[in-house]
Amino acid sequence: MERTLIIVKPEGVQRGLIGQVLSRFESKGFKIVGLKLIHISPELAARHYAEHQGKPFYEGLIKHITSSPVVVGVLEGPNVIGVTRALMGPTKPWEAPAGTIRGDYAVSMGLNIIHGSDGAESAAREIGAFFAPGELLDYPRATDPWIIED
Ligand code: RTP
Ligand code: MG
Repeated sequence: MERTLIIVKPEGVQRGLIGQVLSRFESKGFKIVGLKLIHISPELAARHYAEHQGKPFYEGLIKHITSSPVVVGVLEGPNVIGVTRALMGPTKPWEAPAGTIRGDYAVSMGLNIIHGSDGAESAAREIGAFFAPGELLDYPRATDPWIIED
């Protein structure tokens, strides 16, 4: 089953939105298979945002993501990578439709609440960077047959 990495960014934690953000993914039907509150180190931030190195906003991005704790999680479910991106909404919150996380909770691009892996390759890499194998739990949910068709 497909898996993706999400981060409730520092502004989401500071604004008390952890529960509301996670609730979107739970309500959709995705299973949380890993979850923790961490303070991202500059080294981990640099690895996570390596694709943006050299861009004008890079230094600010690293400073921000390491400024305060974040909640990092792994979600599992059918098409979870793409559907999570859809539930997040576009990077620019002013372009994000109401009903998406960024559309409902954010007005600034650098304070857009949530990160989600943008493809299968980045999901595998990001999950490996943030979680040890033993931190990811494989467990049945009693509701699975009511959410996922055979
Ligand atoms: P994310 O990686 O956080 O899930 O967001 P994303 O894929 O929608 O956006 P991405 O292009 O990967 O950019 C990562 C984060 O950097 C900030 N950003 N600032 N000032 C700028 O031009 C700029 N561009 C991107 C945003 O916070 C974005 O979420
Ligand atoms: Mg991205």
